[in-house]
Amino acid sequence: MEQSYPEDYVRIFDTTLRDGEQSPGCTMNVEEKIAIARQLERLNVDIIEAGFAASSPGDFEAVRRVADSVANPVVLSLSRTREEDVDQALKAIEKARHPGIHIFIATSDIHLKYKLAMTREDVLNAATWAVARAKQYLDYIEFSCEDASRSDWDFMAKVCAEVIRAGARIVNLPDTTGHAIPEEFGEMFNYMRHHVEGGDRVIWSAHCHNDLGLAVANSLAAIRNGARQVECTINGIGERAGNTSMEEVVMALKTRRDLMSVRSGVDTRQIYPASRLLSQIIGQPVPPNKPIVGDNAFAHEAGIHQDGVLKNKLTYEIMKPEDIGIPSNKLVLGKHSGRHAFINRLRELGIDPQTIDVQKAFAAFKALCDKKKVVYDDDILALANEESRQSAEAFELIDVEVSSSKRAEPRAKVTVRIDGQEHHAESTGDGMVDACYKAIYRITGLNPALERYSVKAITGGTDALGEVSCLVRDDGMTVAGQGAHSDIVMASALALVNALNRLKIRTNTDRELRREGP
Ligand code: KIV
Ligand code: ZN
Repeated sequence: MEQSYPEDYVRIFDTTLRDGEQSPGCTMNVEEKIAIARQLERLNVDIIEAGFAASSPGDFEAVRRVADSVANPVVLSLSRTREEDVDQALKAIEKARHPGIHIFIATSDIHLKYKLAMTREDVLNAATWAVARAKQYLDYIEFSCEDASRSDWDFMAKVCAEVIRAGARIVNLPDTTGHAIPEEFGEMFNYMRHHVEGGDRVIWSAHCHNDLGLAVANSLAAIRNGARQVECTINGIGERAGNTSMEEVVMALKTRRDLMSVRSGVDTRQIYPASRLLSQIIGQPVPPNKPIVGDNAFAHEAGIHQDGVLKNKLTYEIMKPEDIGIPSNKLVLGKHSGRHAFINRLRELGIDPQTIDVQKAFAAFKALCDKKKVVYDDDILALANEESRQSAEAFELIDVEVSSSKRAEPRAKVTVRIDGQEHHAESTGDGMVDACYKAIYRITGLNPALERYSVKAITGGTDALGEVSCLVRDDGMTVAGQGAHSDIVMASALALVNALNRLKIRTNTDRELRREGP
């Protein structure tokens, strides 16, 4: 399918579910991954990297389910050059309408020496062997030279020529460590395109990390030098400082088409819903100053700016908020809104009503309407995500009773359902949340370290929904949890129970494989 795109088309390869999910606190369960994949399809991205099938049974299952859940994008799995990796990846994407595989091995001397303990010849052979193996079963093969930006160009050119001969259709040159500067990164693409035998038959792809804050700039430099695929993530999540931010690179191409002379196929009006959906799912708020999707991206504070914008928006706005899908009026529903309007709004916000218990979410919405005069988009997203979180979990929070006064120690009594049976525990603590957490640890038998805890009022006012995010760490694994409720202690308990559920899922899988070599 890739050959049918015009020369000015840049494919958007989204790796939120693989490179993004790999970063601490961004773990998603299968249902959450499917919700993101469906939103990516609404965004009209060209390729979804659904995970790394061989890394754990959980990842395998997620790739398999995502492959079956979307129709238009290519769905692929990451794979090292090992036989079992390639076979697992091929198996996981079997049901995709457009299946693909993404095989990688490092090409920099530093990785060869310290990480892989392999010679250049070993790497060349492993890469060619893996691509040839996959080619027996499918055509859509992407190959990546990990740490390309620190690799020797001539050796890398040799590897690329061999994998192209073996059947790779896309060749990706990652700036794995976020070390590159735009000019040199662009030059690397120019060199490789002109020196690799068969380089004119493949799509060249850029995959950048943001350690120096240059991921988007480097991706644009690659495009200026012939790359026609960019790998990116929603909100720029990813290893360390993150990956190229999808919304930034897409809007840069759209806004500066005059200079870039290329376009993507992304429906930019789905950007904002995608950003909010991911933020809700992983419990990581979007920083207010984040380009494109941050709360302040279109807010004009200085009087002189406000004056200019009132006279003509073009004075200080280079993009239209509505092009990004930012609702002009975020106040959407209230007490008198019906089920139909609620379901419609869910869809507009990127939530598939079939993936949640709409009945329960609508009841929670009505209850919130009774407490608040107006309900905002972010409230609705929080309610719907709370609903989908609860439906997929092993521990279910049933009730929390707390008491505290100036004279008595804070005390909590908690009920959690496990395998259909209700369990109760009581505890005192340094505050009501602390007491509640201690009671939950008693019931579940889990006792991870609480690394981060934050509370945010989703929308203004003391009657607002409170959203709690926490990060817990146990046995080298870090997972995030989120909870939303109009009562902060309840929201805190929901967040912890959500994190413990994720911890349980992750403990059952072996994600350590990700840290190994090929
Ligand atoms: O950053 C990187 O090099 C990667 C590869 C696996 C493509 O994520
Ligand atoms: Zn990466």
